[in-house]
Amino acid sequence: MRAAGDTKVVRGIEVRNDPAREPCFTIVHLHHDVPDAGNETVEARQMRAHREYNQEVQTLEVAALCLVDFPDAPWELRMELARQCWDEARHAELSLRHLEGLGGWKGMFPIANLDWSVVAMLDSLPARLAVQHRTFEAGSLDIEIAAVPMLYDMGHDGHAEMTDAIEADEVQHVRFANEWLKRLTDAQPRAVLQVAAAMAWLRRLVEATSLDPLKVIATNDETRQMAGFSRAEVAHVASMDQPMPDPPGAANSGPSDD
Ligand SMILES: [Fe+2]
Ligand SMILES: [Fe+2]
Repeated sequence: MRAAGDTKVVRGIEVRNDPAREPCFTIVHLHHDVPDAGNETVEARQMRAHREYNQEVQTLEVAALCLVDFPDAPWELRMELARQCWDEARHAELSLRHLEGLGGWKGMFPIANLDWSVVAMLDSLPARLAVQHRTFEAGSLDIEIAAVPMLYDMGHDGHAEMTDAIEADEVQHVRFANEWLKRLTDAQPRAVLQVAAAMAWLRRLVEATSLDPLKVIATNDETRQMAGFSRAEVAHVASMDQPMPDPPGAANSGPSDD
């Protein structure tokens, strides 16, 4: 678990300090400070590949932290998390090769580690599965699955194939989290409260920061059902399709220094 003082404050909310990064990286603290110019130009594609690389590294770090922080979790769940570490490491390597194939390099754009900073604050495994897997990874899954035909249409076949292969792994990550959340909350009613508190805290964070609300609310019905969400759950998430308003003072982003 986190040591005292291992936190920072972003838009008035205490989150975990950034994970270690090589000196080549410039770290920013909100997603909207990470450059994103769509998919059309080579520079825009380099930006996307750079973001995806750091995203995969963060996801690896979160899964590894769950193994470190919860040594008494059921063995089968720890095996799922260990397999996930292997998957995310391969995804990071693929993303880095893709970036380099586009003429890019590590550190060419700023990065943000907000997913890590949010999930690593949660002190129960059910809460982390609910936020990291069931919300962040499921949301990314929806977006990336939708991107595959678009990438083929644009003639980026290699990127489309890579994304398709990665998302096949991601379905399994969301599925095991859904299965284990049901088992853990059935066995221990207190876990329901931990999940509810984590989701309420996440909502505050989305409202206060530029944590990508699309990632939290986008849905792809078919993929979500493959990943173990019930029809009712998919319908509930799909109904949350109102864009979140930009918080007041959005232009003055950045962490406080305490
Ligand atoms: Fe991944
Ligand atoms: Fe994943």
